Amino acid sequence: MTAAADHYDHLLAEHYTWMLGGDIETAAAAQADLLRELGVAAPPEEDARAVDLGCGPGPQTLALARLGFTSVTAVDTSAPLLGELMEHARRSGAAQAVRPVHGDIRGILPRLTTRGPVAAIVCMGDTLPHLPARADVQELIADIAKALRPGGSFVATYRDLTRELHGADRFIPVRSTADRILTCFLEYVDEDTVRVHDLLHTHHGGTWHLKTGSYPKLRLRPQWLTAQCRAAGLDVRRDEAGPRGLRVLYAVKS
Ligand SMILES: C[S@@+](CC[C@H](N)C(=O)[O-])C[C@H]1O[C@@H](n2cnc3c(N)ncnc32)[C@H](O)[C@@H]1O
Repeated sequence: MTAAADHYDHLLAEHYTWMLGGDIETAAAAQADLLRELGVAAPPEEDARAVDLGCGPGPQTLALARLGFTSVTAVDTSAPLLGELMEHARRSGAAQAVRPVHGDIRGILPRLTTRGPVAAIVCMGDTLPHLPARADVQELIADIAKALRPGGSFVATYRDLTRELHGADRFIPVRSTADRILTCFLEYVDEDTVRVHDLLHTHHGGTWHLKTGSYPKLRLRPQWLTAQCRAAGLDVRRDEAGPRGLRVLYAVKS
């Protein structure tokens, strides 16, 4: 188990959808708009397959189903988040299209694509920096390039953590409501890694309770990531700042 998977089990999974704003359908609609705007479209044939790597409660899985993908394989190491995704999928009528897979995204793509290459692969919402090492990102991108059919799309959204923050700027307010406050603190470990400390306050029994946890995130340089895509045979068409402070990378298999 990676440190990130452990952190989701211990602290984050239970609060993840709340952290996204609380309404998964609104989040899925925004992700569908983003994917559509990038040019991701389901191919016209009956077997329009996509893979969502690090799906969480499913904003992109549900978005891909909305875009007409008939099969979306959704991979995550968090069993509770996969359970939540399936509840959302049932409620929105997308359950038939969603195939949840409980597992690590590292090395899994060859096993998920035995029926042939797929039309789209996404790894969004800052999942790439959760991988333990740059070499894992490199290998994943090589796997993605192999698993896509010609003309197939790859989309990643991720936080660029390369610029170091100082002093109190390292405290990032994530979300606050009447009963919950999530703040994270960034500790810069070295050129490659930042340690993210989550401070979660919940209000119950008339008082505030603090729960903390931390995990490492990779500081991925946008130029490095696009170079990995190009080396793997992906044509990078967009690489820019996007919504919610995340960078957007869109690439197509040549
Ligand atoms: C920041 S969340 C993104 C979730 C969703 N894509 C979104 O945009 O909200 C990262 C997700 O990746 C999962 N994850 C982290 N490392 C993983 C790994 N090595 N294999 C599979 N899932 C992983 C976490 O459990 C979490 O659900």
